[in-house]
Amino acid sequence: MNKQAINKTNGKAPILVTGGCGFIGSNFIRQWVATSDIPVVNLDKLTYAANPANLADLPAGCSYKLVVGDIQDTNLVRSLFKDYRPSAIVHFAAESHVDRSVTDPESFLNTNIHGTFILLQEALAYWQGLEGTEKSSFRFLHVSTDEVFGSLGANDPAFTETTAYSPNSPYSASKAASDHLVRAYNHTYGLPTLITNCSNNYGPYQFPEKLIPLMIANALSGKALPIYGDGMNVRDWLYVEDHCEAIRLVLERGVTGETYNVGGNSEKTNLQVVGTLCKLINEVDPSSDHNELVTFIKDRPGHDRRYAVATDKIYNELGWQPRMSFEEGMRKTVAWYVNNPEWIAQVMSGEYRNWINKQYASVESLVA
Ligand code: NAD
Ligand code: DAU
Repeated sequence: MNKQAINKTNGKAPILVTGGCGFIGSNFIRQWVATSDIPVVNLDKLTYAANPANLADLPAGCSYKLVVGDIQDTNLVRSLFKDYRPSAIVHFAAESHVDRSVTDPESFLNTNIHGTFILLQEALAYWQGLEGTEKSSFRFLHVSTDEVFGSLGANDPAFTETTAYSPNSPYSASKAASDHLVRAYNHTYGLPTLITNCSNNYGPYQFPEKLIPLMIANALSGKALPIYGDGMNVRDWLYVEDHCEAIRLVLERGVTGETYNVGGNSEKTNLQVVGTLCKLINEVDPSSDHNELVTFIKDRPGHDRRYAVATDKIYNELGWQPRMSFEEGMRKTVAWYVNNPEWIAQVMSGEYRNWINKQYASVESLVA
């Protein structure tokens, strides 16, 4: 769809989404076009983590446009604000994989910090030129992570919105820096920003470098299930569609300048997660017990022990709570990967194999 078509669609200003071809962004856009007639412009660089095919099944005629480009490209970002006059920006674009941030931190600093800075600068200039309701209703929503708060001990209370930042990986440090920039643009210039800090997402269309899709893809092809360290690290898991609903609600009803924690109230050790997956995959393929594929490998450097997120604020102020149980969400997720072998095959490209060979060099059944 060209930009005239977007602009003229029912006369409504579009939202500008960044990183909409990634895991959460594509789920967000799918949910958005199914429930709103507000057009969407998606700025995505199409890194290895992106897959435009994630959005190939959007309904014909829906108001969606993909612009391929980098959020660090000032001129491009400026032209998008000028040409489309968005009512909001929902900023997902990031380098998002902790392990890659350990081996290649620079791209994380570039996209997550500098890229967010460019978006803020251009959003600010655009917003300052608006008037009336266009100005008062504009929003800059920054999608962030619970990892900015650091690591919890077994008995520590969950992260709240006022927990001090203590990021431990280059990824979480870069996300923390971007959160601080967003906060500063609200405090200094009055830009109407919102921040969400969410726990681990899972669901359809997640790139198989992250724990859950990696384990499903490996188990389905009889490969090792590599567990870092003792497998007792704890994450709080949230089904991606619940996260997308939370973002939508914060966008519509959140108080500018505020941050909102989003979580699944579902803490699990990595071994519990993988055990659940193996049980579900055993139902699909009873020919062997997939638990036997579990292989303990060297720990991730600086591996955070536990994350847990208190969701009282978003529940009390906006009425949001997760709808999907962990058991049901995992069942749906396994079913999606089982039913979409061509999607898995497509993303397991040369670049993916390079990563697997480098990251899991010690696991014989994983390297090419
Ligand atoms: P992802 O890695 O699946 O997708 C990231 C997308 O951003 C890709 O489409 C990629 O092409 C795009 N992108 C990367 N660099 C870009 C650039 N310079 N310019 C334009 N586009 C670029 O990530 P995800 O898991 O969907 O995460 C989305 C956001 O949510 C990230 O900001 C991440 O920090 C945050 N988050 C993720 C989780 C999670 O569990 N996945 C949890 C909490 C928060
Ligand atoms: O908490 C939110 C964050 O969750 C997001 O901000 C990140 O973008 C997202 O990648 C995720 O980070 P994690 O590091 O928690 O996710 P990951 O899936 O990489 O790992 C989850 C846990 O599983 C973690 O304790 C490391 C472990 N793990 C992971 C892989 C890939 C393994 O044991 N083996 C593996 O091969």
